[in-house]
Amino acid sequence: MSPLAIIGGTGLARITGLTIERNERITTPYGSPSADYVVGAIQGKPVVFLARHGNPHLLAPHRINYRANLFGLKHLGVKTVIAVAAVGGITEAMAPAHIAIPDQIIDYSYGRKHTFFEDDDQPAGYIDFSYPYSQTLRARLITAAAAARIPVTPVATYGCTQGPRLETAAEILRMERDGCDVVGMTGMPEAALARELGMEYAAMAVIANKAAGKSGEEITMAEIEHNLHKGMANAIEIINAFIAQS
Ligand code: HPA
Repeated sequence: MSPLAIIGGTGLARITGLTIERNERITTPYGSPSADYVVGAIQGKPVVFLARHGNPHLLAPHRINYRANLFGLKHLGVKTVIAVAAVGGITEAMAPAHIAIPDQIIDYSYGRKHTFFEDDDQPAGYIDFSYPYSQTLRARLITAAAAARIPVTPVATYGCTQGPRLETAAEILRMERDGCDVVGMTGMPEAALARELGMEYAAMAVIANKAAGKSGEEITMAEIEHNLHKGMANAIEIINAFIAQS
């Protein structure tokens, strides 16, 4: 049975309920992944967990080796990836600690190694990316959230900024005009690389704070940590319900 991969973001450095079998260090042709892969099981079903920002190091979003992270998962036989990511909430419904299952992406990041199709002897990698997340995996996550009785927003556009600084209020207004509901820094190129490798990929965006300018107050780390504490606990419940269904 192919293991389910969970990529944990800020606020989710480990998964409760995961029985750890081994930590696997992998080096890839693209360099080193963020951390050792934690290989184990949840409810007896095989799971691989990766801390996106490293463990115990804290890699800033633009310094994450997304290609190594995804390539390593593929190497471990992964076909399905659930990405968990902290985000800022832009639109009204995106309240702190709430979870959205995005269906679209706008990529504002730059300068990241964003493709596996880089060599001279390779064909141009024109992957279809009209719907950047796996629709079937999204549907399964939404069903799992309903089973766990955790309200989620089932449709949302994720805007990926470069970071590591947070956005200006004007940048957030522009993103809102563009149609973004949430803003994060790690959704890309992760989603595109998963597609290039033919893996099913969907995300749970956990709202850590109202995006810049939306609350009229400064965004503090204390606020982010407080909201993520609750939001990530809900994300783990959804993952458990997902595994119970699979
Ligand atoms: N902006 C970008 N990324 C984030 C935010 C934010 O407000 N909160 C958590 N990740």
